[in-house]
Amino acid sequence: MDPGINNHGLKAVVIGLIWIRALALYFFLILASGENLIKSSSMEKPDNLIIVIFGATGDLTSRKLVPALNSLRTQNMMPEKCTLIGVGRSDKNVEEFRKNMEDAVKAFSEDKEVGLSKVSDFAGCIEYQRMDFQSQEDYGKLRQFIEKISIERGIGGNIIFYMATPPDLYETISTNLSKAGLGNQSDGFKRFIIEKPFGYDLESSQRLNRVLHELIREDQIFRIDHYLGKETVQNLLVTRFANGIFEPLWNRNYVHRIEITSAESIGVEDRGGYYDKSGALRDMVQNHLLQMVGLTAMEPPSSLDADAIRNEVLKVFQSLQPIREEDVEKQVIRGQYTPSKIRGECVTGYRYEKGVDVHSRTETYVAMRFYINNWRWGGVPFYVRTGKRLPTRVTEVVIHFKQTPHHLFQRVIGKLAGNQLIIRIQPDEGMLLKFDMKEPGTGFVVKNVNMDFHYKDLADVRVPSAYERLLYDVMLGDSTLFSRDDEVETAWKFIEPIQRSWKNNPSIKVYGYAAGTWGPEPSNSLMESEGEGLSWRYPCKNMADEELYCEL
Ligand code: BG6
Repeated sequence: MDPGINNHGLKAVVIGLIWIRALALYFFLILASGENLIKSSSMEKPDNLIIVIFGATGDLTSRKLVPALNSLRTQNMMPEKCTLIGVGRSDKNVEEFRKNMEDAVKAFSEDKEVGLSKVSDFAGCIEYQRMDFQSQEDYGKLRQFIEKISIERGIGGNIIFYMATPPDLYETISTNLSKAGLGNQSDGFKRFIIEKPFGYDLESSQRLNRVLHELIREDQIFRIDHYLGKETVQNLLVTRFANGIFEPLWNRNYVHRIEITSAESIGVEDRGGYYDKSGALRDMVQNHLLQMVGLTAMEPPSSLDADAIRNEVLKVFQSLQPIREEDVEKQVIRGQYTPSKIRGECVTGYRYEKGVDVHSRTETYVAMRFYINNWRWGGVPFYVRTGKRLPTRVTEVVIHFKQTPHHLFQRVIGKLAGNQLIIRIQPDEGMLLKFDMKEPGTGFVVKNVNMDFHYKDLADVRVPSAYERLLYDVMLGDSTLFSRDDEVETAWKFIEPIQRSWKNNPSIKVYGYAAGTWGPEPSNSLMESEGEGLSWRYPCKNMADEELYCEL
């Protein structure tokens, strides 16, 4: 054997191996950096900041905000340095407040096992400041406190102010913060989160916008509607615009009607004082339900930019056919729950709830029919309803498609149902398509069957809470999922004639409905004008006085 040739071969093998290892290392590095890219783009860490929550001893803070912040922290999505300052009217020391927040996280966290062990670390980043929201002097003290914390902890000047107070304080707090120089962005961003309801009517919402615009810029204002933070509400956009099969059918040529329901089984609980001044129209319809209408009915946006999406939602609101004051009685049904028995347990009526006037005419249920005057939806009725103390908690959007033009087949019983696409927002988040199939056997007997998808089947995917998503977005300055000034005002403009008509015509009935039922009977009459036998989709039966469980 020629040793020269042998040596040569060995060298080639060694060089080959070195190349293979180098290539492997190269690809590994590319993959690793790719993975990092993916991770960092989906879990960007916000800049250091201080979060100030006004109304820190209230329900919203303990049930939603603090558990959401804790959850973000356990997922490493909070800034490197962040302090939460709770501001309230109660006299509390910081230890007491931290303990309350720790208990709140334990009680209300959605993912119990994730991060509860870290709750006490989180409590260490929480401070408390008592103040009188009307006193300018107290805002000066708040500013000094913020500056002290910021210097001691090296946080810098970024601040988020969250108004989790009764709505009549939004103006006062924003004005006083501004007067104390706390809206000034020279040393870092200052963002104001305003909870819903944003105003009580068109005029007050316009006024609040005007006042805020005199103090700060529109891009500093985040009007929160927590429905927009729900994963399944955002999925409306993906369902419509990522799938080629739905969009061609999504219009008046194929859609017969659209139904949106947001039902709650709970009553007003301990929020009677607030609710009695608000009612279901202001509390749910003007914001959550109309936003769902907006996303269901909008045109495809040109991009996913905040303004591109909000412009399209605004156009839907601008196209809502105003309900004339004289038509309100026919198109809008209001109700109030009365005492009843649910699964054998007595349930109190609305008028006997804490904080509610015994003669109250505030509606705990609203059902309405309206139209959107544009090329896509002209003539298609939209039915929306919401209520407290209904048989179950369910929020869904139902697209009812038109029937075939000629009925070749007959069902065993009754008429063909028509196809329905049910987008379940909560609970048991998912989608269901109802369509007709031939029942095996002789002849052509047609049966309505389901094709469904449930989020819970994606076993390893965690659905983040709405407040987690929204708080994170504010930290990053992304306002896509927040309502703009013109959107809010246009939504109020649509609601205004209903408010006016109810105010001017006390003879318009507030129907009673037994707690645990699907609301007042006349709400069915809303659909009668569209065709015989039409009714709302009932995901489960009434539970009042029955031992029936509600199955979704
Ligand atoms: C709030 C309303 O905005 O939404 C409450 O003020 C209502 O009255 C709640 O109960 C419903 O939210 P969710 O997320 O439970 O459907």
